[in-house]
Amino acid sequence: MSDPILSLTGVHINRGEVEVVHDVSLDVTPGAVTVVLGANGAGKTTLMDGIAGLAPVTKGTVSLGGQAIERLPTYKRALAGLGYVEQARTTFRTLTVEQNLLVAQAGKGDPATVFRLFPELDKRRGLQAGHLSGGEQQMLVVGRALVADPKVVLIDEMSLGLAPVVVQRLMRAVVDLVGLGIAVLLIEQFAHLALDVGANAYVLRKGRVVFDGPCSQLRGDSALLHEAYFGQAPTESETR
Ligand SMILES: Nc1ncnc2c1ncn2[C@@H]1O[C@H](COP(=O)(O)OP(=O)(O)OP(=O)(O)O)[C@@H](O)[C@H]1O
Ligand SMILES: [Mg+2]
Repeated sequence: MSDPILSLTGVHINRGEVEVVHDVSLDVTPGAVTVVLGANGAGKTTLMDGIAGLAPVTKGTVSLGGQAIERLPTYKRALAGLGYVEQARTTFRTLTVEQNLLVAQAGKGDPATVFRLFPELDKRRGLQAGHLSGGEQQMLVVGRALVADPKVVLIDEMSLGLAPVVVQRLMRAVVDLVGLGIAVLLIEQFAHLALDVGANAYVLRKGRVVFDGPCSQLRGDSALLHEAYFGQAPTESETR
């Protein structure tokens, strides 16, 4: 397997004065999806925010392409090749699809890459983003992270509130993304969907990594997945 493009070693992350992520070490490989799973409040978004510079890393190192980035401001991490699709889906609603991409371009990248990945957006490139469907808006949010030509894209719960068929469409796009050699770190509430496209998975519980291994190991073992999430084996009624 290729060397990781993004590596966390012994990382601790705070929310305000409170430490939420404890001693996390994690590797993200180019051309593959790395999955982060965990129950609500486990610290998944805080982990992403710490990598992106939106929450402070108080201990440990975050290295992107061999460069330590944990002390850099967010925009410099972006320039170093980090894209972030945040949990809250936001676009500039009164700008067109194409203008949204141009704003995010940061002097590099090419909207044509995004239009190839999402022909749906190509058809609507002159439309104000506020008029897109929920799924198309999510495509645009992913597109905005892509257009700056990132090495790694962090994706936090892009399926929120979307119909299953739309979520499947977005997952196919994630597979296309890693096909371009980009590394993806994916948080997803529908664990099975993420495990289907992922290579390796990390499960967080109360801010700590409690499982680290190939997705295939969790895919066929719902009891193991349940235990990783909640710290106990499922009861009989839950397995039925
Ligand atoms: N801005 C904040 N200030 C203080 N505490 C926060 C803040 N954001 C999150 N927390 C706390 O940090 C913990 C982890 O939250 P986080 O949002 O990282 O979890 P998550 O795994 O992303 O959850 P979800 O699946 O609901 O998105 C929770 O206990 C939460 O209450
Ligand atoms: Mg979250």
